[in-house]
Amino acid sequence: MAKFIPVGTFDLVIFGGTGDLSQRKLLPALYHRYADGQIPEDSRIVGVSRTEMSDEDFRAFAFEACEAHTKDSIEKDCWAKFEKLLSFATMDATDPDADWSGLKERLGGDDRPAIFYLAVTPKIYVPICEAIGAAGLAGGDARVVLEKPIGTDLESAKAINSGVGAVFAEDHIYRIDHYLGKETVQNLLVLRFGNTLFEPLWNRTAIDHIQITVSEDVGVGERAGYYDSAGAVRDMLQNHLLQLLCLIAMEPPNSIEADEIRTEKIKVLNALRPMVAKCVGEDTVRAQYGPGTVDGEKVKGYLEELDEGDSKTETFVAIKAWVDNWRWARVPFYLRTGKRMRSRHSEIMVQFREAPHAMFGEDQAHSNRLIIRLQPDEGVQLYVQIKEPGPGGLRVQSLPLNLSYAESFQVRYPDAYERLLMDVVRGNLALFMRREEVEEAWEWVDGLLEGWAAANTPIHTYAAGLEDGPVEARMLLRQDGRDWWSNGK
Ligand code: BG6
Repeated sequence: MAKFIPVGTFDLVIFGGTGDLSQRKLLPALYHRYADGQIPEDSRIVGVSRTEMSDEDFRAFAFEACEAHTKDSIEKDCWAKFEKLLSFATMDATDPDADWSGLKERLGGDDRPAIFYLAVTPKIYVPICEAIGAAGLAGGDARVVLEKPIGTDLESAKAINSGVGAVFAEDHIYRIDHYLGKETVQNLLVLRFGNTLFEPLWNRTAIDHIQITVSEDVGVGERAGYYDSAGAVRDMLQNHLLQLLCLIAMEPPNSIEADEIRTEKIKVLNALRPMVAKCVGEDTVRAQYGPGTVDGEKVKGYLEELDEGDSKTETFVAIKAWVDNWRWARVPFYLRTGKRMRSRHSEIMVQFREAPHAMFGEDQAHSNRLIIRLQPDEGVQLYVQIKEPGPGGLRVQSLPLNLSYAESFQVRYPDAYERLLMDVVRGNLALFMRREEVEEAWEWVDGLLEGWAAANTPIHTYAAGLEDGPVEARMLLRQDGRDWWSNGK
């Protein structure tokens, strides 16, 4: 049984309350936390947007959203109580003449933190924060939650951070990267620092290289407008993949206090070797999906989805990165992410070095591997060499010690947003990014994008539905005498 510790009473205001994120993630996450008894009855959840909607309409809207985006069915009695927390204020928060009285009336009072969740385009983060300040709502224990992407490059990220920082103190700003809320990602910390087994081996002497793969089978679909100005680098690499890299590569923090963890992550970002024009040709691959077949279904290519003849936006990126510090000297980190790949899976593969002396011959060539599967089928596998049973000769096989979360814990897997929203209420910043983290990550990514532009790096094509994306990504590893890990290979 999972244990839930109730949080204190809070007011949560969702700007963009009728938007996609609110429907798919925030409202279902809040319902689940309520249903498990974690949210006090006197808390308030107020949707805000320009849409004309009454409180009743918003409750019906939220019910539909939860039904559509929750695997388990909604329990009617529980919903009847939960919906009492919900209300709605119609308002354009960026309009200086907006009337904030409707929103203020719906808040519960000064005895609780007011949390402002900006589920809107980052372009209006600063004006909304200024308006919250001008309405007198940013004082006391008020907090603001910002979704990624924070900006589109270092300069715009700094402008947002400064603008928001002029209204809210840094320790009241929660920058979400939902990957940090995934159970398996949090487990990375426990796996690394709760066991004595790994830490002595977690460095260049025992580890040959590390791979991080986040592969998606979906295309860009209705998000094409946003995606075409972002691409895989800004949408996934700058945040999710770099955050995973930080957790894998960072030094042990002194404690799990937010600033201890965040300081160690920043050091990793600082140590990332800059991508410059002269290395992007050899160390990176950018590509775009063409038409193909995913899960037996024919799907359109990126350009057809876009409906506009031409675009050089990458939907796939593979990179060989280096963390230039003592621990990771000469250990490459291969990162890749792409849309319209064969399947949805995210995993980290730690490849250990070969045994120094192959006394069992060629068969022993596979060395140990640690696989951390983030999704689906969350779990951890440690590949070890094992003697094949039977008389006659000594044959060695590489087989996994297998820890499956589903088998070990028969509990419902909470969505990342459930954990993160409750952390905001508790005031725990450990799984949120500090200003410098976002800016360091942009600085590295800006270098990569500038390198691509300066070197005129070609954009390759891959047929939708391919396991490994473009063939050039395979070459990226082959040139180092390695292969991408894919389950069962
Ligand atoms: C989002 C990206 O941050 O993460 C999307 O904007 C991507 O493009 C999504 O599809 C992937 O998240 P998950 O949790 O489905 O792996």
